[in-house]
Amino acid sequence: MAGLESGPGPDRGRRHLAAVALHLALLTCVLRCAESDKPSNIILILTDDQDVELGGMTPMKKTKALIGDAGATFSNAFTATPLCCPSRSSVLTGQYPHNHAVRNNSLSGNCSSPLWQKGPESEAFPVYLSKQKYQTFFAGKYLNQYGTKEAGDVSHVPPGWDQWHALVGNSQYYNYTLSVNGKEEKHGDSYEKDYLTDLILNRSLNFLDGRKAQHPFFLMLSPPAPHSPWTAAPQYQKEFSDVKAPRDGSFDKPGKDKHWLLRQPSNPMPNTSLNFLDDAYRKRWQTLLSVDDMVETLVKKLDNMKELDNTYIFYTSDNGYHTGQFSLPIDKRQLYEFDIRVPLMVRGPGIKPKQTLQAPVLNIDLGPTLLDISGVNLSSVNMDGQSFLSQMAPSLRNGTARPYFLVEYTGEGRPSPDPACPKLGPGLSQCFPDCVCEDAYNNTYACVRTLVEHNLQYCEFADSESFVEVYNLTSDPHQLENIVKKVDPTLLQAMNQRLIKLQSCVGDSCRDTKK
Ligand SMILES: *[C@@H]1O[C@H](CO)[C@@H](O)[C@H](O)[C@H]1NC(C)=O
Ligand SMILES: *[C@@H]1O[C@H](CO)[C@@H](O)[C@H](O)[C@H]1NC(C)=O
Ligand SMILES: *[C@@H]1O[C@H](CO)[C@@H](O)[C@H](O)[C@H]1NC(C)=O
Ligand SMILES: *[C@@H]1O[C@H](CO)[C@@H](O)[C@H](O)[C@H]1NC(C)=O
Ligand SMILES: *[C@@H]1O[C@H](CO)[C@@H](O)[C@H](O)[C@H]1NC(C)=O
Repeated sequence: MAGLESGPGPDRGRRHLAAVALHLALLTCVLRCAESDKPSNIILILTDDQDVELGGMTPMKKTKALIGDAGATFSNAFTATPLCCPSRSSVLTGQYPHNHAVRNNSLSGNCSSPLWQKGPESEAFPVYLSKQKYQTFFAGKYLNQYGTKEAGDVSHVPPGWDQWHALVGNSQYYNYTLSVNGKEEKHGDSYEKDYLTDLILNRSLNFLDGRKAQHPFFLMLSPPAPHSPWTAAPQYQKEFSDVKAPRDGSFDKPGKDKHWLLRQPSNPMPNTSLNFLDDAYRKRWQTLLSVDDMVETLVKKLDNMKELDNTYIFYTSDNGYHTGQFSLPIDKRQLYEFDIRVPLMVRGPGIKPKQTLQAPVLNIDLGPTLLDISGVNLSSVNMDGQSFLSQMAPSLRNGTARPYFLVEYTGEGRPSPDPACPKLGPGLSQCFPDCVCEDAYNNTYACVRTLVEHNLQYCEFADSESFVEVYNLTSDPHQLENIVKKVDPTLLQAMNQRLIKLQSCVGDSCRDTKK
């Protein structure tokens, strides 16, 4: 402007007017464009028990090409808690488990309970997306107790959803019941009519066909794969016949200096356990091939609709998984990397292709990120996580990565001994195969995981030993050696202080983490 106005002679006034006109034109455009520009569409694909540490993404070739290569792959994505119902509740609310109070997969632990419905569910992210005029669609597994009698039956449709096709109970591929907008719909075992992963896709395509063009859409697709009972589509049941669970890292290593539950398994594992876990590993991959097809079909559909460039697609899982690590046959629920790390890939506006991002991201950040994209002012929502839009699309947002975070877990048990394993006492659960238990009431722990400055994990157990585990993930990525007795006590003290603070944090105080 200075250059334009300082010029002498008769041109000066004309140039000044031209500059003002340009200014006005820009200003009106900013206002008008903002008004007519609807926010981007969003799709969230949430798989069930898909690990990233043990090859869980290997069968997903199309997904890696169409989402990861077309956008960002987060190499440090974690769940705040490695169990389905608490983790999914964290995804929906953007809160740590100590704030949404869903502690386990039972109704008594608040999984889809009436108190959850009255409280946290009534301010979960779909409610805000709906207020932003998003057309919202859900299909697949919701929360493990969803649709049961005590959880309000199939007639309970959580607020914020325009179309609702939710599975009653835990993951199944056939012979299940759905709540379709509050009405019961029973399914049998015909591949063409009932295979759940395909049905979720088909219903989402119908929804997209019926959408109104003036509003953005949000789809949450929650396939059962690769959760048990691992029923692959017929065309995939012979795939990966020579694949076995990986034998490296902590596979079948004794958990000798770990908390008591990890000292129980027989080591080396018996052949029956090895066969069982190899079979599970193969079948998990087979079920994922239908999810890979789902992603391909969806991306093609968006492309045909000319919406692909204006749609964010998130791909992630509720928790990780293990097959033979520290001689534990199969499950999640542990504090180790294989269970707490999850896949996370995102494509969408402002995200440059082929990026691998190191910033630590948690499942409680999904809600804030979706709301950030939709235009919600995040200071008005009751969430503990933070938007990671700035990490993927720095041209759209500023922001810094958190240096450390909390992982917390409440162990599940059964009050009486498992009848199949009479030698074991009460308080344990998931004792198969070969009576090796994966969980117990006192497998209850909280950890601080640091990533930006140090690469450390510090965990405290609520058991009679007040057991502590500490790992240096740089020198010991497979967590073979608990270094609690070797590290500087002042470091332990500092980590303990951080843990105490995080375990009672709410909102801002959960994000107030300094190096
Ligand atoms: C269930 O949630 C309610 C509030 O949402 C909370 O008061 C209660 O303590 C929770 N139950 C458990 C077992 O944490
Ligand atoms: C579904 O249920 C029917 C009837 O109970 C049973 O015969 C069939 O084996 C079941 N199919 C699967 C895949 O579980
Ligand atoms: C999904 O749609 C495809 C294509 O129309 C069809 O072949 C398949 O049987 C459908 N599957 C389910 C479970 O609805
Ligand atoms: C376990 O399986 C391996 C290889 O399949 C075999 O060599 C070994 O003899 C088996 N051990 C027992 C105790 O059956
Ligand atoms: C879930 O949590 C509730 C409340 O703490 C508890 O009573 C119940 O036994 C837990 N369920 C399991 C399977 O551990």
